[in-house]
Amino acid sequence: MKGEDKRAAIEALRQEVIQALSPLLTKDQTQVVFGAGDPTSPLVLVGEAPGPQEDKQGVPFVGPSGELLTRVLRELGLRRDQLWITNVVKVWPTRRQGRSLRTRPPNAAERRASRPFFEREIAIIRPRALVLLGGTAAQEVLGRRIKLTDERGKWFDTPFGVPAIVTFHPSYILRLQGMAPEEGEKALEAFRDDVRRAAARAGLLKE
Ligand code: URA
Repeated sequence: MKGEDKRAAIEALRQEVIQALSPLLTKDQTQVVFGAGDPTSPLVLVGEAPGPQEDKQGVPFVGPSGELLTRVLRELGLRRDQLWITNVVKVWPTRRQGRSLRTRPPNAAERRASRPFFEREIAIIRPRALVLLGGTAAQEVLGRRIKLTDERGKWFDTPFGVPAIVTFHPSYILRLQGMAPEEGEKALEAFRDDVRRAAARAGLLKE
């Protein structure tokens, strides 16, 4: 597919996802959050599901995890608009705690509802490489549970015919930095290196 056709197909898919999933929103959620960036990019970053900031703004990875991700990209000499950034689940998974709303892992029904759209999103973009951010994205794409401590930094074949590297989710790094700064620093370095290798494999950076 040519670049302009990809842009048109992704825009049509965005409208379709919004139509299909908006009726499932509860009063706690604002909107469906589709992918963002350049749909002709050779590199796609895949997260889990939107959080509260993403739900408000309608853009993936704009909250604290997104800030960390954006900073790492900048350190590598990459801009967000050179990539496609998305989530396997397109709606913020919430739970109530007292008066406040918290983020929880997406359940099977939420994953099932978003799945066909995520598959079509990747099929349209057909990147050269995927970065799977955290266990949920990895499980959703690879079809099995992943042990991140053993398998991060490794490349896998995917049903999309696109190689994927598995790495930490930025929110895990943030939590670790808060609990154990040295470990957090190590995880951040590993994460940066995984993104760098993926960008190199996709042809966005030199090896
Ligand atoms: N975490 C994710 O997995 N995706 C987002 O968009 C934000 C936080």
